[in-house]
Amino acid sequence: MITKVYKINRDNIDTDKLKEAAAILQTGGLVAFPTETVYGLGADAMNPDASRKIYAAKGRPSDNPLIVHISKWEDLEKIARDISGKAKKLADAFWPGPLTMILNKKDQVPKETTGGLNTVAVRMPKDEIALRLIEESGCLIAAPSANTSGRPSPTLAEHVLKDLNGRIPLILDGGEVGIGIESTIIDLTEEIPVILRPGRITNEFLKKVVGAIPIVRGIFSKVSGVKPKAPGMKYRHYAPKAGLVLVEGEEENVIAKINALTEELQKHEKKVGIIGTDETVSRYLGDYVISIGARKDEEGIARHLYRILRDFDELGVEMIYSESFSSQGIGQAIMNRLLKAAGHQILEV
Ligand code: TXA
Ligand code: MG
Repeated sequence: MITKVYKINRDNIDTDKLKEAAAILQTGGLVAFPTETVYGLGADAMNPDASRKIYAAKGRPSDNPLIVHISKWEDLEKIARDISGKAKKLADAFWPGPLTMILNKKDQVPKETTGGLNTVAVRMPKDEIALRLIEESGCLIAAPSANTSGRPSPTLAEHVLKDLNGRIPLILDGGEVGIGIESTIIDLTEEIPVILRPGRITNEFLKKVVGAIPIVRGIFSKVSGVKPKAPGMKYRHYAPKAGLVLVEGEEENVIAKINALTEELQKHEKKVGIIGTDETVSRYLGDYVISIGARKDEEGIARHLYRILRDFDELGVEMIYSESFSSQGIGQAIMNRLLKAAGHQILEV
């Protein structure tokens, strides 16, 4: 299969290209498209065969459910039951935007889309291209991140092409995404809502609307013994091909440790990548040192993270050492993804 890539200008969306993408979705095919968080790999959520194609293209385990993307409130009522007052408040406050809600599903939603569960994940994305694609196709679009299963999520159309070239017919290229990490997921099917995956909608935001929401147990530890509520969170994820180790502590100690570890590996002819910050990059010794941004610009750090992991893969780096970040605010999502990518390897210095 040839994979076409269409550049789309968000401020002046080419209707012919959009119609072509919509027609693919309507006939059960796959289209990758930008959202404000990461690129998604879309299919008609109500068509079981179309959902199955997503799993095949990504190499995704079939028990890992998909998020259904909608463009208006009425779409939610087509697929979800028992929509609570809290869910309404959250939707009012954060949709369209990077928040996914887990709700009980209606019978019409195929089990293929929900990985066999009786619940459905729903989100109204903010990206204009995504919204127009949903509307033009008349489909609700099931879409996981458009990466090969286990790889870092794509923040550029080039990342999608790298992973899925020849496996899907079309990628809509809307340039670099704005947020760079996946949506916050909240489970609203139990008495007390729980955050299953931290994201750009942080607890500070949620608190103002519905009160603080606890984060699911075990999310920051390697072995929790708890069956994850979001099946996707149990897989090694967001992972570069290289090994990744986080180094945490006082800045001076971190720099010294990373430089010592790098020198050691370089003696053995290993290619080492270092993820530093604007404040520290000039002080690292490796051949491949990349700044993830200024330490106080957490939005920038989130936006750059996956691209840097992929860039190191392109460079053929075998080991990556990264600075560690605060777990407050968006930092919680950043550290969640970094720890998963590192398989929880963290050195305290
Ligand atoms: O920002 C995002 O959410 C992106 C863009 C494309 O919208 N999508 C995304 O999808 O990150 P994906 O499939 O890569 O991650 C979805 C996560 C998985 O961990 C999955 O297990 C969980 O959501 N999930 C989906 N449906 C669920 C359900 N019914 N119950 C619990 N977890 C669910
Ligand atoms: Mg994903």
